[in-house]
Amino acid sequence: MKLSVNGSQVDVAAAPDETLLWVLREKLKLTGTKFGCGMAQCGACTVHIDGKAARACQVRMAAVEGKKVTTIEGLLPDGNHPLQRAWIEEQVLQCGYCQSGQIMQAAALLRETPRPTKAQIVQHMNGNLCRCGTHGRIVRAIQRAAGGLGSSGCVAPCSKAVSPWPRNSRAATSSPARPA
Ligand code: FES
Ligand code: FES
Repeated sequence: MKLSVNGSQVDVAAAPDETLLWVLREKLKLTGTKFGCGMAQCGACTVHIDGKAARACQVRMAAVEGKKVTTIEGLLPDGNHPLQRAWIEEQVLQCGYCQSGQIMQAAALLRETPRPTKAQIVQHMNGNLCRCGTHGRIVRAIQRAAGGLGSSGCVAPCSKAVSPWPRNSRAATSSPARPA
């Protein structure tokens, strides 16, 4: 089956009903894309297909034949994408498991909306869960990458102490309570 992965043409032995996630991880050894829920509910497996964010755990190989797939390894070959720099500057990571999916989801937003509002960021990222609770720093990193942070490091009004993540029903049932 032929497709483009991170700018290279690949011909991979895969059944049409295999999921893209497992082909990426097991056959192409691109393990930056993570398995979380396997049900399109967490975003850990987010990649780009023809420039759009997609949940690789739900995409069958038949659907990507001839298309362009980009994983976190191919976002920018030297790992110097503005989002990756912003992620470091905002010290977003905790365990890191969800973060490649978060960055790929964010990159899709900035491609279409280079200067998103905070509300647009929150809405776009709402389906990407983080059990470590890094959502506030994720929003700030996206704002930083988009050039939306002032010299104080704050947008107006300063959002440093504010959790920007709306609790939808899915997030509410998936997020563990913080220990006291
Ligand atoms: S593993 Fe694909 S959305 Fe959770
Ligand atoms: S950083 Fe641990 S799950 Fe997001």
